[in-house]
Amino acid sequence: MTNINFKRRQFLQYAALGTLSTVIPGFAIAENRIINKTPNSAFNADIEIALTAQTADVPILPGAHTHVFKYTGKLLKGPQNALKELPGYLGPILNFEQGQKVRIFFHNQLTEPCVTHWHGMHVPQIMDGHPMYAIHQGEQYVYEFEVKNPAGTNWYHSHTHELTATQVYQGLAGLITITDEAERKLDLPSGEYDIPLVIQDRSFTHGNQLRYLMNMHQRMRGFLGDTLLVNGQSDHTIPVKTRAYRLRILNGSNSRIYKLAWSDGTPVTAIGTDGALLAKPETLPYVMLGPAERVELWADFSGRKPGSELTLQSLPYQGSAAHMGGGMGRGMHGGRGGMGMMDGAASQSDKDTIVRFSVTEQVSDSPKLPDTLVPIHRLTVKDVSAPNSVVPITIGMRHMAFNLNGRTFEMQNYMEREKIPVNTVQRIKISHDNRAMGGGMRGGRGGGMGMMMTLPHPIHIHGQQFQILSRKQNNPGGAYDTVKDGFINSGWKDTVLVMPGEEVEIIKPFKDYTGLFLYHCHNLEHEDMGMMRNFFVS
Ligand code: C2O
Ligand code: CU
Ligand code: CU
Repeated sequence: MTNINFKRRQFLQYAALGTLSTVIPGFAIAENRIINKTPNSAFNADIEIALTAQTADVPILPGAHTHVFKYTGKLLKGPQNALKELPGYLGPILNFEQGQKVRIFFHNQLTEPCVTHWHGMHVPQIMDGHPMYAIHQGEQYVYEFEVKNPAGTNWYHSHTHELTATQVYQGLAGLITITDEAERKLDLPSGEYDIPLVIQDRSFTHGNQLRYLMNMHQRMRGFLGDTLLVNGQSDHTIPVKTRAYRLRILNGSNSRIYKLAWSDGTPVTAIGTDGALLAKPETLPYVMLGPAERVELWADFSGRKPGSELTLQSLPYQGSAAHMGGGMGRGMHGGRGGMGMMDGAASQSDKDTIVRFSVTEQVSDSPKLPDTLVPIHRLTVKDVSAPNSVVPITIGMRHMAFNLNGRTFEMQNYMEREKIPVNTVQRIKISHDNRAMGGGMRGGRGGGMGMMMTLPHPIHIHGQQFQILSRKQNNPGGAYDTVKDGFINSGWKDTVLVMPGEEVEIIKPFKDYTGLFLYHCHNLEHEDMGMMRNFFVS
């Protein structure tokens, strides 16, 4: 742990968010920065957007406005629907088409460094928002990339060194949608019937300001707020007609994991995962959604009575350490202030309302759920370039910090085992052997440390989407039974929730682009404490 890290953590225990900025450096290497300052005239952009990270005061709760960080956008060139503003603190939704060339002029107007990452997108290293490309207040970074991804729901967010958690928490995130030919043929619900739902948890002071107070214990676990927001608003109710909708759900929370289910027990029908539509719809009793994961649902309100309501909930589950402390405040706001806030903030073991759908209008026709969606080439070991070599991602913990492959983040360094030949397909084994993890942490520093070994970790890899080959659980039954039916293993993914005791094998292509590409835990507190590494693709 460096000195700066230490001071920063000390500081975080006491500080209110608004004052963080002047004290904390967001650069590990302030010198020799490479910044893509100017547009490349040979790159013929179809879409040009000016995107600015700045402060703003927005209404979230009744009463005083909340001081936030916010991406504001302006469409400079391209189709009118390429950018859609949302009320609240989230950045505009960026709507792209496969094949489009996109140029984004990113401006930082914050008093702290900032860099923006296009989560889920397959772009070159210098366009990917690696923390080494952070810019200062007043600077500009020009992102240029061709949209290679298929239709799906991605997102963008800050990725600043040791500041990702606080910057995303304060608002620096937004959605990206992509369409393509194959999707258009399906005639899925669109326009007002295509609803984005970004789920985030926050805590507020009595004056409606964001609160991020944490002791070391809470930092190890990750931030859990007591108020659920959807698209930056609380107590969200969406009026719907008696027909089918497409719901694009992003878990944009720092560390909270949701077990999504319908309040009346209707099974959940998924049509897409992180990076793309599925080959065919999948029906599950509930869906587990870790930070950064996306799921697209087919929600059919046909046959429901006007005046009725259906609620998307998060159900209780085990297999997570966050069982201690008070529950989420009833009615979502009830728990604010007091001890519930300081310790345990909110457990993940309560049932909570995420969003209500209230049926307001009877209509006579509805699109039908297609039997098949888009073709997916199912990757198998046969597709792997070197079938006998497996790239390890081993989850570990040492000196009060989580790590990957035994090491914490180093800005531009990588180990031998993190070298990946470009244009290959790799088999990667992510292991979370909580039995092996105890070294040094066992032996009664309170229940706290043992608890830490039982945390799930949402592991994310930059670049191309991957597929899940297998999941093995070395500790089946019990807690695992409360989550195991909520994983969708058939689609394209860029983030996978790895439960304690699990070993998840994935297959991932590393095509087209060389350079440093991050892999990390998307529990943002874990990421900022160094649970992040580089792959060097060459
Ligand atoms: Cu969503 Cu490396 O990030
Ligand atoms: Cu990413
Ligand atoms: Cu983690």
